[in-house]
Order: sequence, then structure tokens, then C-alpha cells
Amino acid sequence: MATMVHLRGVTKRFGTFDAVRDVSLEVGAGEFLTLLGPSGCGKTTLLRLMAGFEAPTVGTVEIGGQDVTRLPPYRRPVNQVFQSYALFPHLTVAENVGFGLRMQRVAAAEGQARVREALALVSLDGLDARRPHQLSGGQRQRVALARALVCRPKVLLLDEPLSALDAKLRRAMQLELKRLQRQLGITFVFVTHDQEEALTMSDRIAIVHEGRIEQLGTAHEIYHRPATRFAADFVGQANLLEARVLLQDEAQVRVSVTGGLELTVPRAAWPAGAMKALIAMRPEKVHVSRLANPAAAPAAAATNLFEARIEEEIFQGATDQLVIVTATGTRLSVVVANESAYGEIFHAGDHVSCALHADDLVVVPAE
Ligand SMILES: Nc1ncnc2c1ncn2[C@@H]1O[C@H](COP(=O)(O)OP(=O)(O)OP(=O)(O)O)[C@@H](O)[C@H]1O
Ligand SMILES: [Mg+2]
Repeated sequence: MATMVHLRGVTKRFGTFDAVRDVSLEVGAGEFLTLLGPSGCGKTTLLRLMAGFEAPTVGTVEIGGQDVTRLPPYRRPVNQVFQSYALFPHLTVAENVGFGLRMQRVAAAEGQARVREALALVSLDGLDARRPHQLSGGQRQRVALARALVCRPKVLLLDEPLSALDAKLRRAMQLELKRLQRQLGITFVFVTHDQEEALTMSDRIAIVHEGRIEQLGTAHEIYHRPATRFAADFVGQANLLEARVLLQDEAQVRVSVTGGLELTVPRAAWPAGAMKALIAMRPEKVHVSRLANPAAAPAAAATNLFEARIEEEIFQGATDQLVIVTATGTRLSVVVANESAYGEIFHAGDHVSCALHADDLVVVPAE
């Protein structure tokens, strides 16, 4: 895959504060890359550096193989949807969406057709004559999206473009936007602080933390193999447990985790030579059953078995979240499918057997 956007050693300093710290990043042509991170971590600043609204203090920006570090925004083959939608208040919806096409001198008939197509895409057909103040926040956000898509840029930079939409519309737009991106082959750099959105939409995700890219990988890698405590904690839910080595051989490491539970971890997953590390355990990986005797359940050798008491049960719709406490006092959050009619139903106070496959434990080096 050819590289479309290439940041090399980019730092952005505001006064004495580094909002972006020595970031190097390659976005492939036609890729959907998401910058994911908490508020203030530098996501918008990274997009503004790509768009040309900020100049790097150190480093260079290339787009489509061309060094654009010193080029103004309008000379870059890039379009963007801002976090605040920045619509023209005195223009109608159709005029707002068609604005870029008029700047590009696209013929009127073709322009109108493309505006209609873009509005249909964001489910705003029929609202072309309205002005921004006559729209809801979510509708305004979709106008901004249509306005950026209609120009068919090589690279589209999207700063939390779905944040004002309700959950249902947001999910529909996520799928629609992803489909469109594939179909048009546009490179997307998408910003969100919503980890579910990032996991659903992206080819790759860059976890941004304090101005740095902490981990870059596919959704699958980021979720199943977080590389740092921050990545494990920020993406999805995880039980984060301090682990210390009790015993080890060539195949396995036996550890004691926070609260005293003992677990077996594959040797290959444990950082070589370390006596301590952090274990991240996803709540859905702990298999809970009401079987009183775990020895009765068929289990692979690589499975950790232990008993626990349910301390709390939290209804979440499709799933139930349980807080369980082991005999030694390790507290874990687990998630079970909610199969009310004929499945198991768990209640606070129940004793349960738990099984956890050793390969499902993620070991993160201690900092
Ligand atoms: N022009 C500026 N002058 C000084 N500091 C700035 C400027 N722009 C951004 N910052 C600071 O840089 C850091 C990163 O800001 P940025 O807007 O990139 O964060 P973000 O990840 O987009 O956050 P959010 O999710 O809240 O939008 C913040 O601490 C912010 O206060
Ligand atoms: Mg931002």
C-alpha cells in the first residue's frame, strides 16, 4: 500500500507545552486510520498539522509523496470536517454542501447532482433549503460531513464527526461512512475518543496519549494485545492486576495477582527476566458457571480454574456485568451473556466456578 500521509518526527509546541511529541506516522492510500485518545491528548492538533492549519515546530508532513510542510491548507489535497461544524450561517444546506464544488468550478448540473447525492448519503434529503440555525446539532454535523465528502478529496480528515448524533443514527452513520470510504477509496484520518467507534470503523487505530502515539495496530491487535497499561485501560474494559512471579519453568509462569489469586501465564507471554508485570484480563474472557465443582468441568491444561462469590450483578441489556470476589480476595469484573429464559441467571451472593484460558491473559510490562 502506497503511503498517503507521512508525518516524520513531528513535534508541535505551544509556548512551553508540547501538544504533539515526536510523532512519526504513515497512513496508507485508501486506509481508514483512527486517532483514539482522551480529551486533550493532541488528536485535533495532529489533524491540524496534516491539514496545514498548524506548522510543526520540528519535523515534516508529506501528503501523496509531496513535502507539504510549508504549504497552506488550500494547496493540500485534503478536506476536513471540524469538531465544531463551521457552516456558513447565511447559506442554505445545499449551498453549504455545494460551496467547495463552486470553488472548484464544477459545472452547475453536475454540482447539483453531487450535492443531492451527498445529502442522501447523510440522510438529509429534503432539507436542502434550510439554513444552519433551522437544524438540530446532529443535522448540522451531517451537513458538515456532506460538505467534505462532496469534493472527493484524496484525504479526508474527520474530527469527531459523529459526536452530536444519537446512538442509533451514530451507529448507522458509522457503517455508512465506512462503506463510502471503501467505495470511493478516500484515505480517512478519523478522530474519536469513543473506543467502540474506533474498533468498528478502522483499518488501524493509533492510540494517542499525552501527544505521543502509544500503540498503532489493527482493531484486533489493539483490543487483544494492548502494549501498555494506558492502551489496555483505555480500550474496552479490562481488569488490571499487578502480577508477581511465584514459580516458573520453560512453558509456564505461575504468578500471584492483586488480591492473592494465583494464575498460570504462558512463558512466551511473560517479559523475559521480569519478576513483576501487569496482567490485563478482559471481562468476557472469564467463563463463569454455577457448577460447584470446577474439577467436574472439562478444561484444557492451559485453563486457570478458580471459585468466586458474586458480589454484585449489573444488568446491561444484552449482557450482565458481574463483580466477583475470589476466596483470597481478588475482585474481578466479568461479563456474561444475558440468557434469561433458559440460560443461567446469576445473583449476588451465588458461588460460581470460573475458567480462564491462559492465552487470554495479556501481559503488559510494568512501567
Ligand atoms: N493554540 C493552542 N495554544 C495552546 N495550547 C493549545 C493550543 N491548541 C491546543 N492546545 C493544547 O494542546 C493539547 C492538545 O489539544 P487538542 O485540541 O489537540 O486535544 P484533543 O485530543 O483534540 O482533545 P479533545 O478530545 O478534547 O478535542 C491540549 O492540552 C490543549 O490545551
Ligand atoms: Mg479535539
